[in-house]
Amino acid sequence: MPAVNTSEVKKSDIVGMIEHHREKKGVLIPLLQEVQDRYGYVPKEAVEIIAAELDVYPVDIYGILTFYAQFHLKPRGRHIIKVCMGTACYIMGGKEILDHLKGTLGIEIDQTTEDGNFTLEVVSCLGCCGMGPVVMVDEKFYGRCDLQKMDEVLQEYGK
Ligand code: FES
Repeated sequence: MPAVNTSEVKKSDIVGMIEHHREKKGVLIPLLQEVQDRYGYVPKEAVEIIAAELDVYPVDIYGILTFYAQFHLKPRGRHIIKVCMGTACYIMGGKEILDHLKGTLGIEIDQTTEDGNFTLEVVSCLGCCGMGPVVMVDEKFYGRCDLQKMDEVLQEYGK
């Protein structure tokens, strides 16, 4: 997922996405999904353009963005690290893994490293509890994690 500077938001790109969805019912959610797919999050500049073009209040768009957990309002890193904090993973050491990643990366949950390389998130269950503790980086799963393995994984992604 790309981390982009909001100065890269082009009105013509956003208007193109609006045209793509304009005739559909419930245009806002698929439109916002497309914006997020493009930028990795929904920039406020995009919200302003959409509000003006569709004649809706920005606050109504933010209502949707904050209601659905899938949307992000801040830029995210090139790599998204998801640490499972479900019961099985927690018991098997997930908390230690999370604390180690926070310390190594120098960030808290839902923050992004200064170089834009990593965003750290927690999830409640990744559906492979027998492999706990489990961490997911982008689309790849890592099971039976320990602190040394985490250091190796971070190196794999450019730490
Ligand atoms: S609790 Fe971690 S994968 Fe289910």
